Amino acid sequence: MVCLGNICRSPLAEGILKKKINSASAELNTQVESAGTSSYHVGEGADHRSVDIARKHQVNIGLHKSRQFVTADFDRFDKIYAMDKSNYRNIMNRARNESDRSKVEMILNVVEPGKDNDVPDPYYSGNNGFEYVYQMLDEACNIITDEIKENNIK
Ligand code: 4NP
Repeated sequence: MVCLGNICRSPLAEGILKKKINSASAELNTQVESAGTSSYHVGEGADHRSVDIARKHQVNIGLHKSRQFVTADFDRFDKIYAMDKSNYRNIMNRARNESDRSKVEMILNVVEPGKDNDVPDPYYSGNNGFEYVYQMLDEACNIITDEIKENNIK
């Protein structure tokens, strides 16, 4: 899960997806992490507004620590979800080959394929912005969890 600062959107997406995967099955052997395309907030915890919204929905992201996206993430993960078009471009600029590029997807395209909708950056918004982002990510993560379940059944 990748956004700009790795303190608002992608830590929420990481926490939501982890919770859904854990409650779907203890046997889904899936590694979920998040990162930011920028280095602005490296080492910091999640924004307190994301922590609060997550807690309201029984998702704990209190231990999150921001890190920057690195090229090696293409080797460690099968899917890389970008929160917005700017993040998407920055990730694609780091891709080394077609295999890397094929892993990158706009997260809201799992809900509405091909629309390239952004998860809006809530950093300068009020608490309503964070609830809105939470609901978008919750819907996307339901679909991603179903996809992971299908891929684990094989
Ligand atoms: P995020 O939000 O990308 O969802 O973590 C932001 C966090 C920090 C900044 C921008 C967006 N910033 O400009 O510092």
